[in-house]
Amino acid sequence: MSDSLNAGKLWFLGAGPGAADLLTVRAARALAAADVVVWGKALMTDGVVEEHARAEAELVSWPPAEMADIHAVYDRAAQEGLVVARLLWGEPSLYGSVRDEVRAARERGLDYELVPGVTSLFAAAAALEIELTIAPQSSRPLILSQGRGDPVPVRELARHGATMALFMVGERAEELQRELIAGGYEAGARCAIAHRVTWPQEVVLTCRLDELAATIAARDLDRHTIILVGPALEADGPGVSPPS
Ligand SMILES: C[S@@+](CC[C@H](N)C(=O)[O-])C[C@H]1O[C@@H](n2cnc3c(N)ncnc32)[C@H](O)[C@@H]1O
Repeated sequence: MSDSLNAGKLWFLGAGPGAADLLTVRAARALAAADVVVWGKALMTDGVVEEHARAEAELVSWPPAEMADIHAVYDRAAQEGLVVARLLWGEPSLYGSVRDEVRAARERGLDYELVPGVTSLFAAAAALEIELTIAPQSSRPLILSQGRGDPVPVRELARHGATMALFMVGERAEELQRELIAGGYEAGARCAIAHRVTWPQEVVLTCRLDELAATIAARDLDRHTIILVGPALEADGPGVSPPS
């Protein structure tokens, strides 16, 4: 961390999976020093800002703010020497817009710093009490992918038989279930659904892979959900219930 928290600076902070006490100490300190906090109000619990930001800090929520509004805050930071905390959910380097954000800071000649965060994947693993990199293969691979995009190469990824975590599942659950089975996971394999982990609305459960889409639909889980399948879910663990 740089020694000056008061000069104009743009902090890109990993905000963690949702809970206010899952920011790093560094992120919490930077947030507490911010004149302006830019955050996705729907992406993290209110406590993240309420517990760490100064009461007088200006809050800019995205949405309704758009990128142009956020860039206007960065312009002001450069001109007025403001400290801005830009909260990015989970760990910013995973399925985030961190490159664009850094470019925006550079273009403005702003001093900036990135602070890593606790990804929702690690929060999900903790809730499930699983070891993500347990595997029969000695290289112990772990595959991360988003469950959207065209085409979603899930079937090819599944052929490795590794533990796989799929972010942004949303309305694609049925297609993902089909592709995971087509790629080689057993229909009766245990998989996990981790929804809004560390939020008050958290839902974390396991089910058979061929019941994945129905389980998500029955609980009407939005895309704030990760699914996991593979050896980490097959290994015995206290948080993993046996397949039905
Ligand atoms: C754009 S990605 C950002 C991921 C984020 N950078 C991270 O490290 O968690 C958004 C996806 O992350 C997952 N996600 C984020 N927070 C979550 C949470 N608290 N519980 C479950 N999944 C979450 C969901 O799959 C969501 O669709």
